[in-house]
Amino acid sequence: MAIQRTFSIIKPDATKRSLTGAINAKLEAAGLRIIAQKRIHLTKAQAGVFYEVHKERPFYDELCEFMASGPIVVQVLEGEDAIAKNREVMGATNPEEAAEGTIRKEFALSIGENSVHGSDGEDTAKVEIAYFFSGLELVG
Ligand code: CMP
Repeated sequence: MAIQRTFSIIKPDATKRSLTGAINAKLEAAGLRIIAQKRIHLTKAQAGVFYEVHKERPFYDELCEFMASGPIVVQVLEGEDAIAKNREVMGATNPEEAAEGTIRKEFALSIGENSVHGSDGEDTAKVEIAYFFSGLELVG
């Protein structure tokens, strides 16, 4: 498998509980290098653009509200098969369905406040990385 890049967010429920370091430790232990990272606070409108694909879902407004409720940490992760690997270490969207040892099993509070986001494919990863990072910030 080739070296890939993926996009990751540590969500407000996790930054609020000071879990950034614990989550980063799990990502790094899985072989994902954090090649770019910054802590920011989105407006609801900015969250809305990021999650535009979910616009028609009943939870869209709640999701955007939550993502703007506190600081988030946005990251670019790099490694072998990084997209699938990150999704594996995150665990299922619903923490009740997440496997033992995954980030969501250990830290997520609910399906909405589920501590982390990760890109679901190569095209999405490119778009999501470009929404938050300029080329100059991706130093490898
Ligand atoms: P994420 O991987 O960031 O992608 C979309 C997000 O929508 C998802 O994680 C959840 O946080 C959120 N989400 C998905 N389903 C629900 C739901 N039923 N209720 C509230 N939020 C949800």
